Amino acid sequence: MPPQPDLIGRFITLEGPDGSGKTTQADSVARRLRAAGHAVRLVREPGGTAVGERIRELLLGRRELAIAPVTDALLFNAARAQLVAEVIRPALAAGEPVLCVRFADSTLAYQGYGEGVDLDLLRRLAAISTGGLTPDLTILLDVSPEVGLRRRSRGRPSGVTRFEAERDLAFHARVRAGFLALAAAEPERWRMIDASRARAEVAAAIVALVEEALSRPSRSPR
Ligand code: TYD
Repeated sequence: MPPQPDLIGRFITLEGPDGSGKTTQADSVARRLRAAGHAVRLVREPGGTAVGERIRELLLGRRELAIAPVTDALLFNAARAQLVAEVIRPALAAGEPVLCVRFADSTLAYQGYGEGVDLDLLRRLAAISTGGLTPDLTILLDVSPEVGLRRRSRGRPSGVTRFEAERDLAFHARVRAGFLALAAAEPERWRMIDASRARAEVAAAIVALVEEALSRPSRSPR
């Protein structure tokens, strides 16, 4: 799909390793932004559409399935293509800001840095699934794998999803290093927050970054 010059809403993504608190933070941040008068659309990956939720179930729910990393990458991108076409582009075109929990950077971090799938190949897949759409702002909630995994296992029993059952500390350390490398390579797009801080402090820091992004003109055409 060619870049669409009429995308006017801001597109903001929230990224980070497992247990960095993205989902909880995104809910409370969206509530606070809406209370301040911003009609934010909140979506998450994988999922956010009927097809995407089916793919999510396939990716995360079926522990008996053996799925090659490159197949994972294709499935995450298939869910992403649907989310972009069905939800994100229409919202942006209507001028609505979109806050998306995980996006193309997660595939680079997990399937690329984590699993070893070629980064250029993953970038080409992302170009197809996003049609060239890139975030105006990406917020990295950074947390060490030790803290992240401890938090996650407190929230729910470990090994719930296929990934949680398969992935070890070394994998999560590669994912975190991947996110840090991606952020360092594109400092104008990324902002980093130390997610080991108290939940309320992290939420306030996210709200401040999002409000600042909403006050700036969007990077259109994308
Ligand atoms: P989820 O339960 O949504 O966890 P989280 O709150 O951490 O996002 O599970 C999503 C899992 O899918 C998580 O382990 C990260 C992984 N993932 C990838 O491996 N590649 C991707 O492209 C995406 C979007 C997620």
